Amino acid sequence: MIADLIIYNIRKLYTSTEKAPVKGYSMGRINMISNAFVAVKDGKILDVNSGDFKNYINFSTKLIDANHKICLPGFIDSHTHLVHAGSREDEFEKLKKGVPYLEILKNGGGILGTVDKTRHATFEQLFDQAYKSLDTMLTFGVTTIEGKSGYGLCLETELKQLKVMYELNRKHPIDIISTYMGAHAVPREYEHNKKSYIEKMKEDLVYIKSSNLTNYVDVFCETGVFDIEESKDILKSALDLGFKIKLHADEIDPLGGAGLGVELGATSVDHLMAISPKDIKVLAQSNTIANILPGTSFYLNKPFANARAMIDQGCALSISSDYNPGSCPTENFQLICQLSANHLKMSPEEILNAVTVNAAYHLGLSENTGTLEIGKDADIILLDIPNLAYMFYHFGINHVTDVIKKGKVVVK
Ligand code: NIG
Ligand code: FE
Repeated sequence: MIADLIIYNIRKLYTSTEKAPVKGYSMGRINMISNAFVAVKDGKILDVNSGDFKNYINFSTKLIDANHKICLPGFIDSHTHLVHAGSREDEFEKLKKGVPYLEILKNGGGILGTVDKTRHATFEQLFDQAYKSLDTMLTFGVTTIEGKSGYGLCLETELKQLKVMYELNRKHPIDIISTYMGAHAVPREYEHNKKSYIEKMKEDLVYIKSSNLTNYVDVFCETGVFDIEESKDILKSALDLGFKIKLHADEIDPLGGAGLGVELGATSVDHLMAISPKDIKVLAQSNTIANILPGTSFYLNKPFANARAMIDQGCALSISSDYNPGSCPTENFQLICQLSANHLKMSPEEILNAVTVNAAYHLGLSENTGTLEIGKDADIILLDIPNLAYMFYHFGINHVTDVIKKGKVVVK
């Protein structure tokens, strides 16, 4: 078969070839091919191999000389709050003085400040701000993301965010899997009536399901936000309607959100800085992914999640940015990977599995992306580094030079 595109002269190509979810010590395994090439046809991978590729070429085949660069699957950032209005640099000053994140929220700032701005923003303003962020993410090698609503906290604005993501997914090379997160905070107008807000959300879920804008529901299960019983109530309604579910769990206080996620069959439980030793064991027995967000620990100056204990006990981990204006304002996904090496004590191979194959798994994308294997989407990045470990060592800069999404060169 003749390829549309061949990337050749690759010093080393690294990819998982394991079946997802990749758990525990298996996360340390990555397949490496020296002097590799990738052949692409109709946006899909036709072959990944070393040696001779001339059987795949004719006059119409586009050839890319990788010049001894490193080749990886495109990164998957599986937890972001991409669509929001404005920024919160004023709050950064408060955080540095030691004002707790949850106190800022309790006083009507934090997430609620961004809710005000997002409610007032037009579709176009939200689209433009997010498009710019996606462009930055792409240059850092991200080819797929998850994006949450949750800065509307009313049906109209939640839908506006989901529609923005729908349009961005159509117009930008990065694929976006969106998630409804009306349970991101309690809106001001329901401050003294959380129960009614939960009932309203449960009604809204019916409409959101029928809109076909998303298949996922996420809840911020945290002190002062939604407790275990409230989270369970919302998530069970979501499950009854056919949604898949996720939780922001055990981020600040150990409420037991991770255990609840496993009980309800969540695709991922995210954050986990305060997860109990008991819930690590429960998580290890499940196929729910532990989605760790080290950029948030770094920015909020909080402890990092105990990723080592989770891996050593057999959990499957993914790593994401949590990109948002209040607890992780960066689109630099390589920095997130570098923080994982330094602060989560993960090996280069474990991190690569976390940001590719395992991230694809909990977004329901294992068939299409997350590894460089025949038949999958040609989501490919080239990095100007000598080996995989170097990416985590030489930190804070961008090593990605080329990005190919579904067989198309989108960064060169
Ligand atoms: O995942 N934890 C809750 N939500 C976001 C923060 C959003 C914000 O502060 O705007 C998070 O960290
Ligand atoms: Fe988040």
